[in-house]
Amino acid sequence: MAPTSSPEDVIERAIRLDHEDGIAWITLDHPEKKVNTLSSAVMARFESFIDELEANPPKGLVILSGKKDTFIAGADIEEIQALADPPQVRELLANGHALLTRVSKLPFPVVSAIHGACLGGGLELSLACHLRIASTSEKTKLGLPEVMIGIFPGLGGTQRLPRLIGPVEALPLILTGKNVNARKAKRLGLVDETCHPADLKKAAKGLIEKGKDRGRHRPKKPLPTKIFNTLAGLPLAKNLVYGRAKGDVLKKTGGHYPAPLIAVDVVRRGLATNLQRGLEIEAEAFADLVVKPEAKRLMGIFFMKTDADGRAAALAKSSDRDLDSIGVLGAGFMGSGVAQVLAYKNTRVVIKDRDHEGVGRGLAHCRSLFDKLVKRRKMKPMARDLAMSRLEGTTSYEGFGALDFVIEAVFESVELKHRVIQETEAAGPDNLIFASNTSTIPIARLAEASRRPENVVGMHFFSPVHKMPLLEIIRHPTTSDETVAATVKVGKRMGKTMIVVNDGPGFFTTRVLAPFLNEAAWLLTGGAKIEDIDKALSGWGFPVGPISLMDEVGIDIGAHVSEVLLEYFGERITPPPVFQRLIDDGRKGRKAGKGFFRYEGGKKQGVDEGVYPLLGWSHKPVSREEIIERCWFQMLNETAHCIQDGIIENPIDIDLGVIFGFGFPPFRGGLLREADRVGLGTIVDKLDAYADAHGERLRPAELLRTMAKEGKRFHQG
Ligand code: NAI
Repeated sequence: MAPTSSPEDVIERAIRLDHEDGIAWITLDHPEKKVNTLSSAVMARFESFIDELEANPPKGLVILSGKKDTFIAGADIEEIQALADPPQVRELLANGHALLTRVSKLPFPVVSAIHGACLGGGLELSLACHLRIASTSEKTKLGLPEVMIGIFPGLGGTQRLPRLIGPVEALPLILTGKNVNARKAKRLGLVDETCHPADLKKAAKGLIEKGKDRGRHRPKKPLPTKIFNTLAGLPLAKNLVYGRAKGDVLKKTGGHYPAPLIAVDVVRRGLATNLQRGLEIEAEAFADLVVKPEAKRLMGIFFMKTDADGRAAALAKSSDRDLDSIGVLGAGFMGSGVAQVLAYKNTRVVIKDRDHEGVGRGLAHCRSLFDKLVKRRKMKPMARDLAMSRLEGTTSYEGFGALDFVIEAVFESVELKHRVIQETEAAGPDNLIFASNTSTIPIARLAEASRRPENVVGMHFFSPVHKMPLLEIIRHPTTSDETVAATVKVGKRMGKTMIVVNDGPGFFTTRVLAPFLNEAAWLLTGGAKIEDIDKALSGWGFPVGPISLMDEVGIDIGAHVSEVLLEYFGERITPPPVFQRLIDDGRKGRKAGKGFFRYEGGKKQGVDEGVYPLLGWSHKPVSREEIIERCWFQMLNETAHCIQDGIIENPIDIDLGVIFGFGFPPFRGGLLREADRVGLGTIVDKLDAYADAHGERLRPAELLRTMAKEGKRFHQG
């Protein structure tokens, strides 16, 4: 048996102090974790090093990471999640602040030498150093992502960052959680120097030699930035800067996320006083916020994602396929989207369409996505050209003999998909895995055409592929474990968060989104106004309202999905009969420039009033509460049916699926978390009442009834 390390041994290796050339080097390299975090144990040992260095000052101090590609990923979120008592949090932060202030006051130069992710607490520690140097590696990213988990920087970030680079450029970093690469960091004045990763130690030493003031880089700021930074300091003009920042936050978040709004105030109040008082303001506000349910729920999502990513990583490890070359069938919207992400992630892709026009269109789509990355300086032109060279377009199956993994994204037709399965199997090797990106057709039905159904799997991507984080992997009854493992490995390479579900029409995500949209359709035909339905649900936290979503997805596609699902679920999914009239009227949504809304030059305008007479509609107001409940209860109700049918069972996967798949309001923590919060008893009673009033489709699933009766919840704890 391998000897186990004691916690003391682990911490000793997680952060160590060495001396070389008269310089002290503090290296973080947690032996049991992929990334370094600033846990309380690490901070305690760090403090003991600072004691030592204060007593015996070296020529300088360099803080760096021993990890290959990360510096410090942040504070320890598990410790943050456990915080429950505001006074205790305040004390903890006061200690952290005192330590970092000591670092900033050390009499010798202190350099943070950054290679890899320098996020949250990692950046806050770096900000307390006198100088920062960052490697130009693509892995190097600097940022304060705290708002993503419902909090804001609490180790001085809201105070030191705006003091260093000015509030105008600091606020977006603090409020959006976006990170910047080394070059941008230098332009902002966030780092003093950049260098090749291999030169980091040497360059850090060079900075120490220069001295803490001479090494500092103060970039020239554009005139508007200078003006607004000045205005931010003037009592009467302040609101121009901070009011605008708050307005932007409100526009983006609908006011559902308290953290960025409070952060604006913390920055404003902090900059009006000295640093020490600013840090106290930060600690007070942080301590109140971190114990709030919104923050806990957002942190909960982080842990759910970590859990799902961990399970996926373990599965991926069990596949021994190298998967460096992948075939994609169909160079349409989805196929080219998949191909682009694969090529971006160092995979060679053979992409086939039925004709040259299709191939050309697909490759042009990939190129335009890469061009955007270059324009936003996320990619160098040479890297784009290299990525494009990994894409090979074809109209035949030539070259498929060398591929062992093919992703299919041709039109949504069983016959066509059957044909391409057979063609691909004829062209490919015996161990070829065929992954279909169908959004509705049961995988088992597709596998009927296969000679090796155990190698057929569903790989349901979301649109646009490069932006949407979720991948739903579907195994049908005879899909082999090896096939699932290889599919997960491909998804991992593409950077997706994955849920693996069992087969059935619409799998999980499409199946539960459909009744949500369907109920919105019933609300509309029942007399609710389009804008009232959309406003109710976007106000509840969805990124767009359901009627807008139907226009985005395509009313024809929606109708096709319901047709497929109808075959299996009948009444539960039956759309209002008058909806067919929309399709007959050529209303396919945004892509047709005609749907529930008007479009001019591709831009969405107001509601198209012409829809109402078409539906034989007359206004019967429905309360906001009823609109919201009927829609999300239906999503929950179908989820319960999915659990009953064995499609999915883990509440974590369910909540991640709805949040990452179609934007279920993250601050609610997920569909099942919200159901637990409201209480299943209440939901079942209300569903029964809605079913009595509006139809059997709203009758609660057996599982909900039983759980309600037994007082059960979906999530434990
Ligand atoms: P699309 O119409 O943009 O692309 C389909 C492509 O397949 C076209 O370029 C077409 O020329 C090509 N094609 C047709 N027959 C072919 C053949 N025999 N060999 C090679 N290529 C062939 O469609 P889209 O939107 O990309 O959808 C593709 C699949 O992805 C469908 O099954 C759809 O249900 C699914 N899907 C679509 C989503 C979306 O948001 N559009 C989301 C998730 C899944």
